[in-house]
Amino acid sequence: MAKAPEIPLQLVEEIRSKALSAPRPRSLTPDQRDALFEKIKSLLKQNNAVLITHYYVDEQLQILTDATGGYVGDSLGMADYGNRHPATMLVVVGVRFMGESAKILNPEKRVVMPDLVADCSLDLSCPIDSFSAFCDQHPDRTVVVYANTSAEVKARSDWVVTSSNAVDIVAYLHGQGEKIIFAPDRHLGNYVQKKTGADIINWQGFCVVHDEFKASELRRLMQEHPDAEVIAHPESPAEVLAMADAIGSTTQLINAAKASQAETLIVATDFGLFHKMHQAAPNKKLLAVPTGGDSAACVSCAHCPWMAINSLDNLAAVLEDSQGHEITIEESVRKKAMVPIQRMLEFSRSQGKV
Ligand code: 13P
Ligand code: SF4
Repeated sequence: MAKAPEIPLQLVEEIRSKALSAPRPRSLTPDQRDALFEKIKSLLKQNNAVLITHYYVDEQLQILTDATGGYVGDSLGMADYGNRHPATMLVVVGVRFMGESAKILNPEKRVVMPDLVADCSLDLSCPIDSFSAFCDQHPDRTVVVYANTSAEVKARSDWVVTSSNAVDIVAYLHGQGEKIIFAPDRHLGNYVQKKTGADIINWQGFCVVHDEFKASELRRLMQEHPDAEVIAHPESPAEVLAMADAIGSTTQLINAAKASQAETLIVATDFGLFHKMHQAAPNKKLLAVPTGGDSAACVSCAHCPWMAINSLDNLAAVLEDSQGHEITIEESVRKKAMVPIQRMLEFSRSQGKV
């Protein structure tokens, strides 16, 4: 498969250092946590707001979202839910591209986030200027971008996909005879190419969490637990995916855990997912794929540093005063970006996948 040029080293270093310097929330006593729960519940009512939360954030935020009738799910489900829910304020507890997708689809609603610095290394590894110039060099190709991108990159694309529908959508496009630029995740692009046989030029972005999973360490863990099954998110390296019994989006991994007959599961994704996975498959032992070997260090250590910025403290604060926390997108960009997202949602809805 053809590759786009490597991400410049300086950008890779910038991304790593942003990940390492992401702010960390304080830890709370049970009393502080209970008080914040009550405060947030009442602020949600006052603001006619609903929480839309990703599986990777702290489990207390997931528990609160469930307790207040909000939604905890994968990025496709989050986009779909915000689009259907009648609340006038959507509080997206995840990373910025998720808030942007909600705003793109719901311009009439206020979309706020606990902290807008919640980045994503895939988004950061696909700057609009270099990506757009690259697309201009390949005008014959359909541009398919992962949801983990900026509004501007989505506006430059023909289709948006998430990890739950990327294979289906690219298979469909390949069936129509289309050649593709896929961005930004190199591992997801590689996986999609193998599954579909499509003609893809693959952007070389990476996720600081999944890119760190080590095949050699996984092999060692599998030897220690010979009856365990391996389940992996497709942002993981090809050598890790090659050892997986199931591969899919976060929601698909929860379903795979539920369906699995194995007592032990080795999981290659952010360990924030373990909260819902434990609920769905309570009797299973869950083990994380190691991110470092004997000599390696990890940047994320299997937990997204930007998802981890979200806390009960900054959630309460944004509901009290949303100034500086609201997503805004220039209208011409929003309108263009909405087209490929709607295309994706219609495709997945027609397949009964959302
Ligand atoms: P999902 O769409 O599978 O939830 O993935 C989003 C993500 O950021 C994974 O790292
Ligand atoms: Fe982005 Fe990776 Fe974090 Fe997901 S886990 S939001 S892909 S950096």
